Amino acid sequence: MIQFIDLRAQYARIQEDVEQAVLRSLRSGQHILGPEVDTLERRLAEFAGVEHAISCASGTDALVMALMAKGVGPGDAIFTVPFTFVATAEAIATVGATPIFVDVDPITFNMDVGALGRAIQALAAEDQNGHPLPRSLGETPLELRARGIIGVDLFGLAADYRAINALASEHGLFVIEDAAQSFGASAHNRRAGALAEIGCTSFFPAKPLGCYGDGGALFTDDAELADLLRSIRVHGQGSDKYENVRLGITGRLDSVQAAILNVKLDIFEDELAARDRVADTYGRLIAESGVDLVTPTLPPNHSSAWAQYSVVARDGEARSRLQARLAEAGIPTAIYYPKPLHLQKAFEGLRYAEGDFPVSEDLGSRIFSLPMHPYLKDEEIVGIVEAMKS
Ligand SMILES: Cc1ncc(COP(=O)(O)O)c(C=O)c1O
Repeated sequence: MIQFIDLRAQYARIQEDVEQAVLRSLRSGQHILGPEVDTLERRLAEFAGVEHAISCASGTDALVMALMAKGVGPGDAIFTVPFTFVATAEAIATVGATPIFVDVDPITFNMDVGALGRAIQALAAEDQNGHPLPRSLGETPLELRARGIIGVDLFGLAADYRAINALASEHGLFVIEDAAQSFGASAHNRRAGALAEIGCTSFFPAKPLGCYGDGGALFTDDAELADLLRSIRVHGQGSDKYENVRLGITGRLDSVQAAILNVKLDIFEDELAARDRVADTYGRLIAESGVDLVTPTLPPNHSSAWAQYSVVARDGEARSRLQARLAEAGIPTAIYYPKPLHLQKAFEGLRYAEGDFPVSEDLGSRIFSLPMHPYLKDEEIVGIVEAMKS
């Protein structure tokens, strides 16, 4: 039976090493942070090509910690996309700031940098005509201060940080890279997580590099920022545990998860290559099959971590038909994301409206994801494409 993400196949490969690492960790008596976490952070920094990796309790905590480190709070505006997992915008709202949504590009599914420029101008002018803004602005001028941008690397492909970083520095904004789905990808010879001032990733089990619980990490080249993040991770501690110099969170990574990640890192490059192979095979077979789907394309000098292999059907009906055929053949699919964040109840206070972000809305109505993991065999991919043809 084909799995959407096959964690059991991966476990079978690394079982002995993982079980030994977990036992070692349990017997060590060190359960939070500690030597396994130190080793992991050194290896993650080296892998990402940054000076500092700071592990934490989840990808969501990584985003919250990054925003806290930047001193973001009420009255601050953070630009991000509505076509993402809720955590990106949730983190902004959690620290009391306001997400300003910017539509995505229909090909890369990542932030449309032209729209970002318009959003920055519109917010400065409080002008809804230039770009949709939270409508609460119209009634009670919130005098939002533009502070930063969170780019999201959707499905494993990095956003266009060359353009985002350039626009940010023109307007005095910081940039956070939400690399929750893209750890392992690269752009112009730099790894995802290292493409902005602060990178954030997630080790949720289904992510390209996942642990067996929740986990995450932050990446930066800035030593001061790294110290600040380490302090925020432990309730804003100062030079000792019971000196609290700022507010923070319980954001630490469990030692046992670090031990598991240290084993999984050993096979990560190999798994990334396998994901590339799966994506190439899908692209070739779908093109040959005549099934009417737009398959993902990578911009030049980019590689993807292929967290998802997402395809776009002609319309919603075609998507339902294809998903039904696959389900009949016992092949699981998923829709990421059926409802963009500006239309979610959780963000209704911002009073965005349908039609504000047409590309995100259109993608939500037609996109779906096929099984994607490093252990998907060629003959299984053939079967998946055949099932869509019938
Ligand atoms: C784009 C994006 N951002 C943030 C997160 C949050 O990560 P976590 O689930 O580890 O909190 C996720 C994953 O779930 C994600 O896909």
